[in-house]
Amino acid sequence: MAQQEPVTSNPVTSTVEDGVAIVRIANPPVNALSAAVRGGLVRAVEAADADSSVRAIVVTAEGRTFIAGADITEFGKPPVPPTLPDAIASVEATSKPVVAAINGAALGGGLEVALGCHARVATPSAKLGLPEVKLGILPGAGGTQRLPRLIGAVPALKLMTSGDPISAKEAQSLGILDEVAEDALAAAKALALRLAGGARPAAASAATNLGDRDAFEAAAGAMAKKGAENPSIAACIDAVRAAFDKPFDEGMAIERAHFIRLRDDPRSKALRHVFFAERAAARIPGLPKGTQPRPVARAAVIGGGTMGGGIAMSFANAGIPVTLIETSEENLQRGLERVAGNYATSVKRGSLTEEARGKRMGLIEGKVGLEAAAGADVVVEAVFEEMGLKKEIFGKLQGIAKPGAVLATNTSYLDVDEIAASTSRPGDVLGMHFFSPANVMKLLEVVRGRETAPDALATAVEVGRKLAKVPVVSGVCYGFIGNRMLARRTAQADRLLIEGAMPEEVDAALNAFGFRMGPFAMTDLAGLDIGWRIRQASGKKSPVADALVEAGRLGQKTKRGYYDYAGDGRTGVPDPEVRAVIERVSAEQGVTRRAIPPEEILERLLYPMINEGARILEEGIAARAGDIDTVWLNGYGWPAGTGGPMFHADSLGLPRIVARLRDFAQASGDESLRPAALLVRLAEEGGSFAALDEKAAA
Ligand code: 3HC
Ligand code: NAI
Repeated sequence: MAQQEPVTSNPVTSTVEDGVAIVRIANPPVNALSAAVRGGLVRAVEAADADSSVRAIVVTAEGRTFIAGADITEFGKPPVPPTLPDAIASVEATSKPVVAAINGAALGGGLEVALGCHARVATPSAKLGLPEVKLGILPGAGGTQRLPRLIGAVPALKLMTSGDPISAKEAQSLGILDEVAEDALAAAKALALRLAGGARPAAASAATNLGDRDAFEAAAGAMAKKGAENPSIAACIDAVRAAFDKPFDEGMAIERAHFIRLRDDPRSKALRHVFFAERAAARIPGLPKGTQPRPVARAAVIGGGTMGGGIAMSFANAGIPVTLIETSEENLQRGLERVAGNYATSVKRGSLTEEARGKRMGLIEGKVGLEAAAGADVVVEAVFEEMGLKKEIFGKLQGIAKPGAVLATNTSYLDVDEIAASTSRPGDVLGMHFFSPANVMKLLEVVRGRETAPDALATAVEVGRKLAKVPVVSGVCYGFIGNRMLARRTAQADRLLIEGAMPEEVDAALNAFGFRMGPFAMTDLAGLDIGWRIRQASGKKSPVADALVEAGRLGQKTKRGYYDYAGDGRTGVPDPEVRAVIERVSAEQGVTRRAIPPEEILERLLYPMINEGARILEEGIAARAGDIDTVWLNGYGWPAGTGGPMFHADSLGLPRIVARLRDFAQASGDESLRPAALLVRLAEEGGSFAALDEKAAA
């Protein structure tokens, strides 16, 4: 008979060693607290408590993590008992001491399980944290009640509002861990037996280390101000305050109410989508089974300008030795000095130690001439954006680079297939498109050419991950995923100026949506000359931008651009001269200016991007809508709380977007605004981009 469900073994097992019950959780890949794990944990602990041959209990897990937290995939589904707070209450309520042996990451609900134990031991490499705020929620299984009572309200609040994990050493100094030991299991067993001999230590729920109330209120006030737009922060503060004001059980109820409210909010749904989309993006569709990345021990970067320097830093930061190649000693020195300057700033700011700085600079070697690329396993070209120059370089590289070396271009717009055709080894060629500043920005578009070999592609994605980037695979087209969509937004932003909006209104609409910077503030920061040069080369025009450049308004660097920066040089204020230029262009084009409401501005900026995203999916340039979201979230500052452009489109409802795009196309006569066939089809079928991705994954 065909089996409906795979037979799964019990994820929680228990053995008795020397009078200690070792309760082991094995739920790969990260031991998330699924219903089966919660149930198994309660049963195992209760059985051990009832077993007269057992004196103490150790809870541990198998694999590379301890417990990564609640099972996030369960959040949208009906709850299955026992709840995590109930499961942890059972652990805490045993008559025998329970010690957590933390063998790897203990995050969220995983740390909360450990806090329900009576003592904790971890391996030195373990990371501990409460990352719930990053998912738009708050710790929901006692973390806001036990941790403050155990280590003090201020450090507990810091840990849960930052969401960042800490090392075992730090956790020990904060009082979260009782011991740190290479063999955490053995140490936990020994500790459990010692505890069994004496009085059981107080449970964290009964600890009294909250600390000073005024200090808590001061810290909470500062955090509330900093995180004013983040409802998770306010909820954390409220729940921790309850630890001062209310008995443990009432505090738990307050925490639970916040947890459920936040979990069911669209913001948390969006952030969960972001979490899974980023991970899905790392899976490359269509790779032959068993494709292995090529080994990479050394890198070379050609061109030590704005991008090349940052890319070289990314390699050095990941511990990969890198050769930075320039055309002359002078250019090379300039590039290396900029890199050194960046590191020096980090040391001054305290984000990098002097020792780490020395180590990283030591991994960057500067050379003149392409021959220096000979030793590299991956070569990233970051010279001027000129096809002729790039082809010449790739043509020469075919004879210089090691056989099997991956040859990548950082081009923003150029045709990767045309570049690949200039070598005899097009299988090694692909795009590795970093974002500025390359040592900071997370996004890496990996551009798969027609001839790119599967293992070359896998190598680039793997290298991206080693560089702590978020790699997303794109097909070849003008601007790839991100810049191609950005071009739609830019065109509309320019058009809005001519129809009646001012730069500050356009930027404000995007700021209100959650972007830190609007398109015009962004252009002022980057410099208007960049777009101007691209337009010169392609024969395109942008009347307002061109007029500003001709008036010497290049942005922040000239203290004048779309805004005036005469004050501190960084804060732009609206400028009557710009208003005059815009009004003149409107008049020249015979446009009667009108007031454009902020809602329309936002729709005009976002919907054409979503439309282009649909075309990108249709053409197979992106494999998943979630990949497009990942690009915008990590490369262009799309606000995470709305999940990215395609997730946002689903939330708004696709029929509405189709209808508005038709309106815009009608009103402007701009055919590019007509809704994409895929968008129309999904809207008509009642489909969504999320459902499309799910279907593709299945
Ligand atoms: N629930 C469900 N699946 C999870 C998960 C979780 N909590 N954490 C990770 N996974 C899945 C990932 O989706 C991925 O699946 P895939 O292979 O199908 O793509 C797989 O586990 C491996 O994850 P990573 O690729 O991220 O593995 P890494 O080794 O790079 O990182 C990790 C491991 C550091 C544990 C990382 O996965 C992580 O940060 N996980 C999430 C931690 C988290 O946010 N925990 C809090 C959950 S909310 C909570 O606990 C609420 C509670 O307070 C009630
Ligand atoms: P840049 O002008 O700052 O630097 C280019 C460097 O390449 C110069 O230092 C130049 O001396 C060097 N160079 C020129 N020919 C060379 C050769 N034959 N051998 C070795 N070095 C050579 O340019 P930038 O901004 O760093 O851009 C580089 C590439 O990255 C371009 O293709 C660009 O489109 C792309 N890019 C740029 C981004 C940006 O924000 N600046 C973002 C993403 C990609």
